[in-house]
Amino acid sequence: ATFNLLLLPGDGIGPEVMNEVKRVAFWFNETGVVSFNIDEDLVGGCAYDEYGEPITDAAMQRATAADAVMLGAVGGPKWDGVPYDKRPEAGLLRLRRDLGLFANLRPAICYPALADSSSLKREVVEGLDIMIVRELTGGAYFGEPKEVVTLEDGQQRAVDTQVYTSSEIERIARVAFDLARKRRNLVHSAEKRNVMRTGVLWNEVVTRVHQDSYSDVELTHILADNCAMQLVRWPKQFDVIVTDNLFGDMLSDEAAMLTGSLGMLPSASLGEAQASGRKRAMYEPVHGSAPDIAGKGIANPIAMLASFAMALRYSFDLAEEADMLERAITSVLDQGLRTGDIMQEGMSRVGTDEMGKAIVAA
Ligand code: NAI
Ligand code: MG
Repeated sequence: ATFNLLLLPGDGIGPEVMNEVKRVAFWFNETGVVSFNIDEDLVGGCAYDEYGEPITDAAMQRATAADAVMLGAVGGPKWDGVPYDKRPEAGLLRLRRDLGLFANLRPAICYPALADSSSLKREVVEGLDIMIVRELTGGAYFGEPKEVVTLEDGQQRAVDTQVYTSSEIERIARVAFDLARKRRNLVHSAEKRNVMRTGVLWNEVVTRVHQDSYSDVELTHILADNCAMQLVRWPKQFDVIVTDNLFGDMLSDEAAMLTGSLGMLPSASLGEAQASGRKRAMYEPVHGSAPDIAGKGIANPIAMLASFAMALRYSFDLAEEADMLERAITSVLDQGLRTGDIMQEGMSRVGTDEMGKAIVAA
């Protein structure tokens, strides 16, 4: 099969780590099992420099038409002075909004070779493999009214509104249950039904979707604050955690840091299924453009490559190829190869290219 991939390397270390995606995709093309049709465009500060926009309409059209979008990172001090609506991040936000990417998937995986880099004890994190499914386009960050008003007594009053409809909850719940079936078949749904009406509805809708379509999956309801505590107490009890935009922001950052470095963490953002049956999707590392190390060839490409593995698994149904890539990452870490950000005593320090080449070789 042929898959259309749009690469948006962006700024800073974005193009450096994206090069390693090309290396892996070309390798797949050469083996002949899969065929990637690779297209590339600008997003972020580089697009602003070239076109005066952080992403052009033409690039948006290509993103809409692609089977999956791989994004590097955007931004940097060079663009601190550009108008607010033209800033590099505005390109990223437009992609998320216009592609309707409502489901943000953030895995927290602990590679055995790095288990001692966590702030938690090795036995607590070794073998950890959690997937946080965060609702990304609703809830407190988007609900109306959203305003600051001055009261009669001169005080100011700020309002954000937590809003969810049952259909928004249902579609994110389905993403979580579908994922769990490909993993350890366990979903925790986190909300605050004890104090929030949205929590009550969340709980009811997830329960109904579970009963109607996913009774084979084990479902546990958990209060979001307890979930935060359990994540540091005994994280291995979790497989998939589904939660709203606000709690998901907190819980995914917390879970991510159980495992060590920013340079290791991938993410996926998924939208509705298209006519082709494929979901709109964008894959990106959690880290930013790292201006402090950009241009030096020392960035860790693993977060970007693990994001590509997610694309193989979730956009292209290439589970075996995704496993292969993830196993190759594990194996180079076991061999002792380390970029600077994950360097440990006695290990071999490598640059971006060397790490990518070693992963392809593995
Ligand atoms: P950052 O993630 O770019 O860097 C934080 C620290 O982690 C730096 O010391 C950096 O060198 C290191 N680091 C990050 N990724 C690494 C990798 N792959 N390998 C080795 N070291 C790595 O976050 P920061 O410094 O807060 O932001 C820098 C720029 O990136 C800003 O302009 C920010 O707006 C932008 N940014 C963009 C994001 C995106 O495109 N999704 C996300 C976060 C920040
Ligand atoms: Mg956050």
